[in-house]
Amino acid sequence: MKGIFITFEGIEASGKSTLSNILYKWLRENQINTVITRDPGGTPTGEMIRKILLHAETSIDVWTEALLYAAARRQLVAEIIKPAIFNGSVVICDRFSDSYFAYQGYARGLDLNVIIELNRIATQGIKPDITFLIDLPVDMALKRLNEKDRLELEDKDFHEKVRQGFLKIAENESQRIVVLDGRKPVDELSQIIRETVMKLLNFPA
Ligand SMILES: Nc1ncnc2c1ncn2[C@@H]1O[C@H](COP(=O)(O)OP(=O)(O)O)[C@@H](O)[C@H]1O
Ligand SMILES: [Mg+2]
Repeated sequence: MKGIFITFEGIEASGKSTLSNILYKWLRENQINTVITRDPGGTPTGEMIRKILLHAETSIDVWTEALLYAAARRQLVAEIIKPAIFNGSVVICDRFSDSYFAYQGYARGLDLNVIIELNRIATQGIKPDITFLIDLPVDMALKRLNEKDRLELEDKDFHEKVRQGFLKIAENESQRIVVLDGRKPVDELSQIIRETVMKLLNFPA
């Protein structure tokens, strides 16, 4: 049996980690083989790359950054995601290709065709079966942030471009991407997520 690949997307502090972990626990409690991971990261190599990307003390050239994200994703797909999907597991990933398109493409303004091509090499064509985009106004996200990393220090304008980028991607791929209102309480959001995943797994309600 082929597994199912689920991703969570959204700007900083939109609730991705909170909601993906709740889904993970719920699936495990229901005896469903589930793997949770994150992009960038999830593998020893990927986690080292993540440190460079998110905690760099010197500035990184925008294309160097784009190549590092692609490198981390390639390792994650090869080492974790692809084997788990083929092994029939549910794979949950905190961020994936859509973050790449939203941040490197729409917000940084790099040539989207090149970003798409780099992503193709990185993902080997693997796409999520379903993506939850947690949409949140930038002001609310900034209020939620208490820990500052490199991306979180970018200005409001940048976050706004990322948010709009995500919404554009969701508009173009409305079959795959479920947009959720991140202002809603966690319980309400996780209920919607559970129901959507249940349908995908052909679970009795
Ligand atoms: N729906 C929500 N309503 C209110 N607070 C939330 C909600 N989802 C997450 N939070 C809080 O916002 C902060 C950021 O959430 P987190 O899941 O870490 O976001 P992300 O992984 O997208 O950066 C945390 O303090 C979390 O408890
Ligand atoms: Mg997170």
